Amino acid sequence: MKPEIQKISQISVNQSVVCIIGSDNIPERLRLTKQENDFAMSRVLAREEYIFINSYNRYIYLIRLKEEIVHYKVREELRRTSYNLRKLIKGNNHSELIITSENAYNGAVEDFTEGLLLSIYSFDKYKTKSLKDENTFYPAKLLLHGEIEDSEIKWLIDLTDAVYFTRDLIKEPVNQLNATSLAGEIKKIGDSAGFRVEVLTKGKIEALKMGGLLAVNKGSVDPPVFCILDWHPAKCLNTKPIVLIGKGIVYDTGGLNIKTGEFMAGMNGDMAGAATVTGVLHTAAKSGIPLHIMGLIPSTDNRPGGNAYTQGDIITMFNKMTVEIGNTDAEGRLILADAISYASKYSPELIIDIATLTGSAAMTFGNQAIAVMTNVDRKYISLLEECGNDVYERIAELPFWDEYGELLKSDVADMKNIGGREAGAIIAGKFLERFAEYPLIHMDIAGTEMLKKDDFYRLKNGPASGLRLLSTFLRRIAVNYSERK
Ligand code: BES
Ligand code: ZN
Ligand code: ZN
Repeated sequence: MKPEIQKISQISVNQSVVCIIGSDNIPERLRLTKQENDFAMSRVLAREEYIFINSYNRYIYLIRLKEEIVHYKVREELRRTSYNLRKLIKGNNHSELIITSENAYNGAVEDFTEGLLLSIYSFDKYKTKSLKDENTFYPAKLLLHGEIEDSEIKWLIDLTDAVYFTRDLIKEPVNQLNATSLAGEIKKIGDSAGFRVEVLTKGKIEALKMGGLLAVNKGSVDPPVFCILDWHPAKCLNTKPIVLIGKGIVYDTGGLNIKTGEFMAGMNGDMAGAATVTGVLHTAAKSGIPLHIMGLIPSTDNRPGGNAYTQGDIITMFNKMTVEIGNTDAEGRLILADAISYASKYSPELIIDIATLTGSAAMTFGNQAIAVMTNVDRKYISLLEECGNDVYERIAELPFWDEYGELLKSDVADMKNIGGREAGAIIAGKFLERFAEYPLIHMDIAGTEMLKKDDFYRLKNGPASGLRLLSTFLRRIAVNYSERK
């Protein structure tokens, strides 16, 4: 359950409060007794990070801002603090909790709230009722106090709602969510948020000759789907859409090149890119970002079935290029490539694909950076980097030189779907680039999405990596557009 969020203007004396302080000053509106105040001040002056006051009828949490040099680090430390306090806050069974600040930066209340919301998320849909009840003590309401713009509160609600359902989708196992049911969920989200969803089913995908998606689907008993998401507001600042593409492999066994040992675990999350694109479209539509934004989601599972595609197969992709299959576990790039060439039909300003694409990206950057590969105008990358720091979903670029692409050479087809053992993430990116007729940013989230343990509020097993980043990026592109006009 996600707490409700409201803005308030008054703090009454029997309500529990989180107060973020940026100086050695405890605000009077908390109305501490003299004794409480003396105690709190002594702890503040002793430079303690958190100070707790448990009064008869309420609980006060004082949180000192960290003294970091860069602003985005201060913000991140505050989000992390809310993760550190989540159990205490939960354990104190508040039905309502006020969040306020004193001499802190603009946005501190929102950052703490965001961190807290993302930290107390849990996936308990399949737990029995008694276990579910444990969670009913989370604060049912978070009351934000201070001069906060309504639009910022709305953004926070829309964005965290998206993180919640995106995480839910990622965590669903494949026996509960196949490609067709994923499309059904996307449709529901589109209907409630206000963007259009068209679902192409197998017959249409065959008619379009999406050879990559169809090849990966051959071993499955379930049909593939291709979803087209469209947020096209009446008031819209761009003429050519920004197209987001998400990898929707609802389960990746590896296919005939089957994953061994522990490598298959968690591969129900191989559709995280697809879920994330859906979350971004939701946030764009709910908060009314004045841009034409589309989402393309090719989806299937990847299994070794009776007629599964094999190593050595030569397939013809949607754009008529031929690909020799060097490894059936390099399936993500095949379904994404079809979507990338399909995007040409919209003459996009920019294509961004997001995918749990390669173990190599995870080996290179661990869980700290989204691997980005691109040849687009640097203005997009500077903005993406800046947004990445601000929301702390940081990006790191890999070289994207043409020499890496040469490793895809095939003796029998236009290219292979794998290169050598080295530089796997870059080669995968180079494969995708061949299908892009418009500017492409490729984001590999294999490292940041498949977390084995919590990285603070980026909770393990599918934190919805890239969702806050892309939503913020699009929001700022819209601001830049309107400032230029
Ligand atoms: N879905 C995997 C990539 C992955 C691995 C994501 C680990 C998250 C954690 C992808 O389809 C895959 O299997 N890639 C192969 C490519 C190889 C066969 C060229 C890989 O990275 O090993
Ligand atoms: Zn794979
Ligand atoms: Zn995969």
